[in-house]
Amino acid sequence: MTDYPLGAPLPAPLVSEEMQHRLAVRRSAPAQDLRTPGPDEAQIAAILKLGARSPDHAKMTPWRFVVLGPQSRANIAEQLAALVKTKNLSPKAAAVLAKLTAAPVSILVISTAAPGLKPVWEQQLSAGAVCMNLEHAASAFGFWSSWITDWYSYDAEAAALFGVTAGETIAGFIHIGSLNEPALERDRPDLAKLTTILP
Ligand SMILES: Cc1cc2nc3c(=O)[nH]c(=O)nc-3n(C[C@H](O)[C@H](O)[C@H](O)COP(=O)(O)O)c2cc1C
Repeated sequence: MTDYPLGAPLPAPLVSEEMQHRLAVRRSAPAQDLRTPGPDEAQIAAILKLGARSPDHAKMTPWRFVVLGPQSRANIAEQLAALVKTKNLSPKAAAVLAKLTAAPVSILVISTAAPGLKPVWEQQLSAGAVCMNLEHAASAFGFWSSWITDWYSYDAEAAALFGVTAGETIAGFIHIGSLNEPALERDRPDLAKLTTILP
């Protein structure tokens, strides 16, 4: 990857059939099926760098990352399983923890949006854009990925186990790894119903 000095002209977008194809076949992996190999340290750093290259109105960088290896997620999943019991949550709440622990690596994207220069909504959208770009970057390094939130993203006590502090919101866990079997095509929306074209 080439780094350009500040203010340098960037290359114009090139026609890339490979990129068109990649976007056309993009699919989420079933998170619980993700396995090794996952990205190594240098690849994770590159994926973060590409993910962070996302639109961000007024350069507020209203997000931050926590990179979670298998050990930290296994420890936290144990504590989440205990919370499922103390909070009397459904068996499904325990079952979905399999999506948290399977992948070789997970990047937690935390929205730090707060009233400021630009609307909170725009800052949250920027965190969403980061999540999507992380997925594209993972794909560019040959990995499948899955964007997961689940209940523990919305329970303050649970989210705190990942280092999420008051006022912060989890935009998503981007779980990254490999699949034994490829993901299957799913139905796609009828764009004609969703699109208005004006002259
Ligand atoms: C903000 C967000 C949160 C998501 N949370 C979950 C989740 O908690 N559990 C899950 O199984 N999938 C979750 N997903 C993944 C979607 O369910 C997935 O994108 C969907 O299955 C569509 O498949 P596709 O991405 O292959 O088109 C989430 C996606 C987004 C954008």
